[in-house]
Amino acid sequence: MRSRALLVPRARGEELRRALAAGGLLRTDLPILREGDSLALPLTEGRDPPAGLGEIVEREFAVRGPVAPADYRSLLDLPPDEAERLPRSFDVIGDVVLVRIPDDLASRAPEIGRALLEFVPGARIVGSDEGVHGPDRRRTIRRLAGSGGWRTRHRENGIQIEVDVELAYFSPRLAREHARVAAAVLPGDRVYDLCCGVGPFALTIAKEARAIHVTAVDSNPHALELLRRSLARAAFSVPVDVVEGRVEEFARAAPPVERVILNLPLEGIKYLPSVARTVARRGHLHYYEVVPRDQLEGRGEAVVHAIGSPGEWRELEEHVVHPYSPMADLVGFELERTDLPTEDA
Ligand SMILES: C[S@@+](CC[C@H](N)C(=O)[O-])C[C@H]1O[C@@H](n2cnc3c(N)ncnc32)[C@H](O)[C@@H]1O
Repeated sequence: MRSRALLVPRARGEELRRALAAGGLLRTDLPILREGDSLALPLTEGRDPPAGLGEIVEREFAVRGPVAPADYRSLLDLPPDEAERLPRSFDVIGDVVLVRIPDDLASRAPEIGRALLEFVPGARIVGSDEGVHGPDRRRTIRRLAGSGGWRTRHRENGIQIEVDVELAYFSPRLAREHARVAAAVLPGDRVYDLCCGVGPFALTIAKEARAIHVTAVDSNPHALELLRRSLARAAFSVPVDVVEGRVEEFARAAPPVERVILNLPLEGIKYLPSVARTVARRGHLHYYEVVPRDQLEGRGEAVVHAIGSPGEWRELEEHVVHPYSPMADLVGFELERTDLPTEDA
């Protein structure tokens, strides 16, 4: 289609494109044309740009179809060097979107927030995820776009989980792991979900209905309140006890059960010996740890060793759950407490 355009030198293209866009003079439904050392910036109808910016011409433009953007980044009008550094991934938790913005794009955070709000279907609020901190692994979040609070209801593996992304830890990147562990539960297992957070392991296991009892333990009362609300809505047949407390204290007095989950990836190792005592013979322990990639080999053996009862435990399996940082992965280990070998019996 034909449209008016401003013909400008390529060297000033980005500067003038931004000036036109900021003044509402740039047509965004038509592409910018390259003509040798010049660019033709398509103009909206009705108003002329300030004199002296370039020559106003008429050009034929290819019409962009009304296709939905495949990527939120295409909704942002940034210079190429900034566009390249935009985060590629983000998390969607219920109707909350969380994105990690690199420091050198901090000034673009509100634009990124608005683009994600427009791009993600059903999004209500977008926040900048500034990391998890402290013993409760609570997230620091800054609102970028949208409205309301951080409380939401997330759906994964056929269950609904009450979440407050600011008050209690939750990661949608663990959904497959929650399902994997729930699928491993054997009929009749009693389960401890230690460091349960808002309880996605406990809820998924209860939904699968092979366990006969689940106890979910965490030290963050906000997380447990959310878990109680999820349980109240779900009405599972498997009883789930919710216990507020520290894992080390719980483990001291808890009778052994067939399956235990310990998901405290940065410091769980120090609780391993006491948690291991809560696993019945022939029972299983699902243990998580952040492991630098170059130290993965042999880490399973080291974990077995850290339990402190050599010969009593064996590693069944280990797998990368997801990348944790450029150099490290979150790794899941499944360990079995064997019958004591004859010589130790
Ligand atoms: C990484 S989150 C795990 C959340 C959950 N398992 C999940 O899959 O979403 C770790 C949890 O451990 C809890 N926590 C940290 N130290 C603890 C301790 N010593 N005893 C009990 N819970 C603890 C935190 O409150 C947090 O909810």
